[in-house]
Amino acid sequence: MTPLRRIAFEILGAVERGGFASDLLAERTRGLDSRDAGLATQLVFGVLRRRAQLDHLIALVAGRPPEKMDPSVRRALHLGAFQLRYLSKIPAHAAVAESVELVKQAGKAQAAGFANAVLRRLPELPEHWPSDPVRYSMPEWLWERWLAHFGGAAASVMAAAALEEPEVYHRGDRVMDIGSQAIVPLLELEPGQQFLDLCAAPGNKTLQALETEVRAVACDSSFNRLKHFLAPCPLIQLDASNPLPFRPVFDRILVDAPCTGTGTLARNPEIRWRLTPEEIVRQAGRQKRILGNALAVLRPGGRLVYSTCSMEPEENKQVVNQVAGSRVQRVVERLPGREPGDGFFAAVIE
Ligand SMILES: C[S@@+](CC[C@H](N)C(=O)[O-])C[C@H]1O[C@@H](n2cnc3c(N)ncnc32)[C@H](O)[C@@H]1O
Repeated sequence: MTPLRRIAFEILGAVERGGFASDLLAERTRGLDSRDAGLATQLVFGVLRRRAQLDHLIALVAGRPPEKMDPSVRRALHLGAFQLRYLSKIPAHAAVAESVELVKQAGKAQAAGFANAVLRRLPELPEHWPSDPVRYSMPEWLWERWLAHFGGAAASVMAAAALEEPEVYHRGDRVMDIGSQAIVPLLELEPGQQFLDLCAAPGNKTLQALETEVRAVACDSSFNRLKHFLAPCPLIQLDASNPLPFRPVFDRILVDAPCTGTGTLARNPEIRWRLTPEEIVRQAGRQKRILGNALAVLRPGGRLVYSTCSMEPEENKQVVNQVAGSRVQRVVERLPGREPGDGFFAAVIE
């Protein structure tokens, strides 16, 4: 058994219990060489992205829904199925044998024969998806809502992009998504301006803003996220859903709001399985409070940019229309698959 598969298996279990794949991968693959770390990453993200497809294929040969199987058996089958169907460089016998071994190591030796039989039949199945939610490996409710909001053509492009490994973009010597890089320019910063970055950690956009010589103050509610802040400027830990301890002195404000992140499904594939419609409503409530408080400290004539990496109108247009109304000058929407990088929404408010 190669440690990388065992690590991928354990990370998938931790994600089922609420962990975040990218954090867990960063922690757990540190001791692996770069090839093994790369494959572990590919396995974890691939399984999370394509879970509905894998479940469909497994159900076809197993004759029963994987949701009804023991979670560790299902997880091992996911790993095996992903390798057999999507990774051409891994020999089929290795993918089968290692997944069966994972089943045994999980204490489910009685299911080893079953897992072996299922996996052996997977490569020959034709690719035929019974529905769009399976084709795009998305929960039905989320697919339906994208269909309603974006129409079939755009929703398909967005959902297909969420199945692929995202491209890596850089700004200077650090990694920063290209969609994310498109937000700060909307502020039209000028040297000497007072700039407030309200939901700032870990500081990617603050650092980008400081490329113009503004006088920046960065805030975030998370002490942990502020600890590793990237940009050299004054930091304040505060909860922006409460009124802010500032007078209206800021020429420019960025509200890069906490959100559901549905524009980042390729990068954060577990979001699609975790998100609920109720969570969208909860996020929107917080976003409205934060935006209202931010507007109260904007200098007359100043400019505020509200942004999210969500694709849900409740967190985007509805927030800015309800809170800022006619002060919204323009909105920009980057859809994954249509524009490169993560999906983003931004509104310029004056
Ligand atoms: C989208 S992230 C910000 C990313 C950051 N702008 C960057 O480019 O690196 C949203 C941030 O909002 C913070 N946050 C969540 N709730 C908050 C609140 N009530 N007040 C202030 N910050 C909050 C989170 O801790 C998180 O760091």
